[in-house]
Amino acid sequence: MHPSERREAIIVLDYGSQYSRLITRRIRECHVYSELVPATTTLAHLQQNPQLAIKGFIFSGGPSSVYDDNAPTCDPAILNSGLPILGICYGMQLLAQQLGGHVAPASGLREYGPAIIEVLADAMQDEQRYRIFADIYPSSEQTEPLDQPDEKAVPRLPVWMSHGDSVDRLPPDFRVLARSESNPVAAIASSQGLIGLQFHPEVTHTPQGKTIIRNFLFRVCGCEASWTPGKVIEETVEGIRERVGSERVICGLSGGVDSAVAALLVHKAIGDRLTCVFVDTGLLRAGEREQVIDTFRDHMHIPLVVVDARERFLGRLANVIDPEEKRKIIGEEFIRVFEAEAERLDQEKGLITFLAQGTLYPDVIESTSHDTAATAKRIKTHHNVGGLPKEMTLKLVEPLRMLFKDEAREIGLALGLPEEWVWRHPFPGPGLAIRVIGAVDEARLAILREADRIVIDEIRRAGIYRELGQAFAVLTPVQSVGVMGDGRTYAYVIAVRAVTTGDFMTADWAKLPHELLGRIANRLVNEIAEINRVVYDITSKPPATIEWE
Ligand code: XMP
Repeated sequence: MHPSERREAIIVLDYGSQYSRLITRRIRECHVYSELVPATTTLAHLQQNPQLAIKGFIFSGGPSSVYDDNAPTCDPAILNSGLPILGICYGMQLLAQQLGGHVAPASGLREYGPAIIEVLADAMQDEQRYRIFADIYPSSEQTEPLDQPDEKAVPRLPVWMSHGDSVDRLPPDFRVLARSESNPVAAIASSQGLIGLQFHPEVTHTPQGKTIIRNFLFRVCGCEASWTPGKVIEETVEGIRERVGSERVICGLSGGVDSAVAALLVHKAIGDRLTCVFVDTGLLRAGEREQVIDTFRDHMHIPLVVVDARERFLGRLANVIDPEEKRKIIGEEFIRVFEAEAERLDQEKGLITFLAQGTLYPDVIESTSHDTAATAKRIKTHHNVGGLPKEMTLKLVEPLRMLFKDEAREIGLALGLPEEWVWRHPFPGPGLAIRVIGAVDEARLAILREADRIVIDEIRRAGIYRELGQAFAVLTPVQSVGVMGDGRTYAYVIAVRAVTTGDFMTADWAKLPHELLGRIANRLVNEIAEINRVVYDITSKPPATIEWE
């Protein structure tokens, strides 16, 4: 990359707030590139990356108090860099303390949740410091000024607060821009682009938060909105070409959006030196194999090998009931099939040395972060179809490594991936095997496949597919007595699951309209002879999980 083409970036230092990642996403939504890095990251380390033109920093919130013994701080070189810094909550207190101010517990003044802040009238005259609140309009939610009855025009806005400490002495050159009902220091700024906000502009509960973030990016840091899908594609394709050179790449398609977008990017970069492999495990949804062939081979003209491994998988799964055991078998078998295919392709087309994967930025942050994710208790063994077989000596190419899911979707659309594909609900690697509770065989899979098709069909017809995080059918091992016509039936119970969720870590059961549930149940029992009863799962996650298994 030419030095003049360095990528403008805002670096977010992570002090452990649950919203840290969200800050990065919000910045990216403004088409400015942003990275989340551990709070201990030094300026020197960041500057080793010749591709980044750092335009400013954000210090996130966090659970500590700046006066605690082991409270996280920051590299002094960042403070002295002359670059703009926005401190949010803990970040503001750290900024204030490090620059010579003072922070104390806000005894009796702790604020958690919604609050109203009021911009100080005289601060509005100070254009340099006030930039962060430019274009903010007075909220209609509260019209009564706190105690400045003559200042009707002073913006008051609802914000989201979450802090127990407050700044009680400002550093030199800082002044207060806004206060809240219970805290005289809700926003501060220096003339040099150092800004502190006691509230969280990144959450949707701060309705004008996005304007505040935009002000920081464009008015304070002088960023250009250059992180667009076109630019991302251009940079990524160039990066893939550099990394892969004249070698060959294999990519396992899972049927999901991530591996699809990764494959499209690699194909754009190196053309037919990419071969995609799709393994038909026999555990797929109705029409999935045909759809993959249609989209990739026929529509996108990407070299695609479809491996029919249905017998192998079903053979090994026969009579296996334990879900973890199913997952283990499927994971192992997948690697075997994939390896065998890679070897065959080596013979046929020439040596393949790279494996393309659709790893996303959140996975990258997860694996490098110091939080509890790594030590979280294992609930179930996730495995990704297309995951790197341990014994394989392939090098990795991960074109989505720096992208959030939303960005991957945008890029998929820009590269011509059909809408329907881009907005697909996630589907677990082990497929329908974990949604057939108990033993898996062709007969039970056929029932579930048909049930799943009906559930999704009705949800699409109702026009709510995109609103749901995931929706599917589960084949329970329970059989019950029913009556159909004049006859007794003894058939399976199908469970329908539909959830709304942002990150799949927590989820709420979807409040589907009763008429829709009725139609789904009717069709399931009318169209599938082996089903005579339908139940709807009304548990959220936690305490349940999304899948049943
Ligand atoms: P749970 O059931 O744990 O699922 O609430 C959370 C999300 O993960 C998906 N899931 C998987 N995805 N490989 C995957 O790629 C897997 O082994 C796997 N198991 C569950 C699940 O469908 C939901 O979206």
